[in-house]
Amino acid sequence: MSETAAPALLCAGVTKSFAGGVEALAGLDLEVPAGAFFGLLGPNGAGKTTLIRSVVGLTRPAAGDISVFGLSAWGAGSAQARQAIGYAPQDVALDRFVPVRELLSLHGRYFGMSRGAARERADEMLEAFDLTAKAASYAHLLSGGMRRRLLLARALLHRPRLVILDEPTAGVDLELRHDLWAYIRRLHADGTTILLTTHYIEEAEALCERVAFIRAGRIVAEGAPIDLRERYDAPRLEDVYLQVVGR
Ligand SMILES: Nc1ncnc2c1ncn2[C@@H]1O[C@H](COP(=O)(O)OP(=O)(O)OP(=O)(O)O)[C@@H](O)[C@H]1O
Ligand SMILES: [Mg+2]
Repeated sequence: MSETAAPALLCAGVTKSFAGGVEALAGLDLEVPAGAFFGLLGPNGAGKTTLIRSVVGLTRPAAGDISVFGLSAWGAGSAQARQAIGYAPQDVALDRFVPVRELLSLHGRYFGMSRGAARERADEMLEAFDLTAKAASYAHLLSGGMRRRLLLARALLHRPRLVILDEPTAGVDLELRHDLWAYIRRLHADGTTILLTTHYIEEAEALCERVAFIRAGRIVAEGAPIDLRERYDAPRLEDVYLQVVGR
């Protein structure tokens, strides 16, 4: 398969269990087409974050295959696969001892940018996410919403082709949420693949071209919101959600 024809993300039979017998991923299959705006929806504990961490190389699956633009996420090519991904985690973990601007430029260096290019891009991202005033401050001194913006700025810094956002708008105020979505929409319009999780189903319905519902470590329904509403005879995507993953 040529790299351009490959889906942005392909997961086949992915399993992962944790100590205590929790089966977080139970043979999960998922395809995210290149260029898609894709939402992964499901209740707390469904396996969303575990799946994402398996894709970005932080949690090793027990079985199954994961590839990113045709590059194996865990085999040969995993370094290239990781380079293609920008990841904003659900849990904010940012260095306390490095000022905000350096935090971003170091990320650029880590992804192979020259010192000058990384600095320039860091300033550009600070500007884009309205964080310039905090450039010399530290992540733990920012407000919760600002930290979320910083995470996003960091995820996008190296211009990844696949952007994975785990709950990007949790705790973010209304206006900023609109700004973030506008930014992400622009990225998508420029050809970047977006994969996100959110508990705001209405937002997902408005934004995502395709969504997948995950429950107990498996995808239980997948498609364009309009098709899913039809298939489940539901007026809103929320109603589909309640039907396919509700308790
Ligand atoms: N490191 C870990 N050790 C043990 N259990 C874990 C670990 N990480 C996740 N789990 C368990 O795996 C299951 C799936 O968790 P996961 O974080 O993937 O859910 P999620 O869909 O992201 O939920 P949420 O919407 O709350 O973020 C849960 O039962 C969780 O407790
Ligand atoms: Mg999660």
